[in-house]
Amino acid sequence: EINQREYLCNGEMKQWNGTVHPVYSPVCVQTPNGLERKLIGSYPICTEAEAAEALDAAVKAYDNGRGEWPTMSVAQRIDCVKKFTQKMKEKKDIVVKLIMWEIGKSYADSVKEFDRTVEYIDATIKALKGIDRKSSTFEDEQGIVAQVRRSPLGVVLCMGPFNYPLNETFTTLIPAIIMGNTLLFKPPKHGTLLHYPLLEAFRDSFPKGVVNTIYGRGNSIVPGLMQSGKIDVLTLIGSSRVANELKKLHPKVNRLRAILGLDAKNAAIITAKADLKQAVSETVLGALSFNGQRCTALKIIFVHRSIAHAFSKALSEEVNKLKVGMPWEPGVALTPLPEPGKPAYLKDIIDDAVSFGAKIMNENGGATVESLVYPAVLFPVNDQMKVYREEQFGPVIPVVPYDDLETPIQYLIDSTHGQQVSIFSYDKNEVASLIDPLMNQVSRVNINCQCQRGPDVFPFTGRKDSAEGTLSVEDALRSFSIRSLVATKL
Ligand code: G3H
Repeated sequence: EINQREYLCNGEMKQWNGTVHPVYSPVCVQTPNGLERKLIGSYPICTEAEAAEALDAAVKAYDNGRGEWPTMSVAQRIDCVKKFTQKMKEKKDIVVKLIMWEIGKSYADSVKEFDRTVEYIDATIKALKGIDRKSSTFEDEQGIVAQVRRSPLGVVLCMGPFNYPLNETFTTLIPAIIMGNTLLFKPPKHGTLLHYPLLEAFRDSFPKGVVNTIYGRGNSIVPGLMQSGKIDVLTLIGSSRVANELKKLHPKVNRLRAILGLDAKNAAIITAKADLKQAVSETVLGALSFNGQRCTALKIIFVHRSIAHAFSKALSEEVNKLKVGMPWEPGVALTPLPEPGKPAYLKDIIDDAVSFGAKIMNENGGATVESLVYPAVLFPVNDQMKVYREEQFGPVIPVVPYDDLETPIQYLIDSTHGQQVSIFSYDKNEVASLIDPLMNQVSRVNINCQCQRGPDVFPFTGRKDSAEGTLSVEDALRSFSIRSLVATKL
C-alpha cells in the first residue's frame, strides 16, 4: 500500500494531515463479501485553500513573464528537463507497477507507456533545439528586420486522462514547462498514485513554483482555479463536457488558451474491396488495445453488406483467441477496468443492442466478473442502438453493415466527434474518392491501418468536439508558446 501524504507546492513537499481518498485497484481479490477491488493506497483530498496556494506559487514563479523560469535560456530549461528525466528513469520500476495496479494496464503495456514517455521527452528536447535554431530573422523590402522567438503563455492548469496517466499527461506537461510556462498539475482520479514517486524529481529538477501538484476532488478544487482568472492555459485530455464546463468558469474566456484532447468515436470503413484478414487484425488492435479505453480506439465498424457477416465471424474468431485475465499475466490482452461504473454501462449498451436485434457473435462476449469485462462483437448494429452513437470506451465492437458508402460518410458528417477514420480497401481509386470527403470530417484518415495517435511526431488533433489545439512533439511546443517578434528598422 502506498499512502501519499505530501503534495508539491512552491518547491516544498507539504505534509497533508486532512482526509484522504482511498485508491482501489481494478484488480479484485477474494474477501468474506466476495470479490472486491483491492485497496492499494490513498492520497490527499486537498481543499480549495491548498489549490489556491498552489496557484499562487505558479503565478509567483511566472511573475508576469519576469520570473526566473520564463526568462531562463532554452538551453538551461532543457538541462532541467534532462535532469528530471534522469531521476524519472530511476523510478521506472515503481511507476510501472503503479500504472499496472492503479489502472489495470497489462505489465507489458505499462512498461511501454513508461518508455514511450521517456522517448517523448527526448524527442521534445530534440524538436525544441530545432525550433530554437529556426528562430531566425525576417527581413523585407521595407528595411525592417524581425527577430523571431517563442515566448511562454503563462500559468498552465494541466490535467491528464486515466488511460495513459503518465504518457498523455506528459505530452502536455513537458512541452508546457519546457516553453517557460509554470504549472499546476492535477493527476487523473484513476492514476494519481503513480505520479507520487516523481514528486521529488520535480522538486529537485525545477526552480520553486514551476511545477505544483494538487490532489483531490476535481469538482471541488478545479472550479475555483478557473474562476480566479489566473489560469492562462487549460490543458486537459478527457471529456468535452468537463472541458466546456471549466472554460465557462473563466472570467476572461477569450484570453484563455485551451489545448484539449477530447471525446472520439472513430470509425472504420471496410469496403467490399478490403483485404478481410488485414481488416480483421487491425480492427482487433484498434478496438481492443487497452480494453478499448483509448480516445483513438476504433469504436464503430462499417462493413459492406456483401462481406459483413464473414467479417463479423472472422473478427469473432480472432477475439475468441484473446487472453482475458490479470495485468501481470504474460500475453494477456483484456484486463480489469478502472472505472467502477463501466461494467454496468457496457452491459446496458450490449443489452440495448441485443434488444434491437444485434447478436453477440463471440464466445462469452460481454460476460462480466466484477471489473473484468469480456470483449463483445455486436452484429448487425443499426442506428436505433445506443452503441451506434455513444462512445463506449470499453471492449465492445459494434459492426454495422452498409450498402452505400454514403452511409458511413453521412455518419461522420452528423457526428459531434471528428478525430480519425480508417479505410480498408485495396482499390486505389475507391480510397482516393473517400479521402477528400473524410478528410474534411476528421483530422486523420488511416488507409488499411487502425486509428492511433502514434508515431508521436505526427500532429495529433481533432475536429468538432474531439480536440482544441494540436499536440505531438513539435506542435505541442508551438501550442504552449506564442511566436513573438523583435522588429527593428534598419
Ligand atoms: O487515448 C488517446 C491516446 O492518445 C491514444 O494513443 O493511439 O497511441 O493508443 P494511442
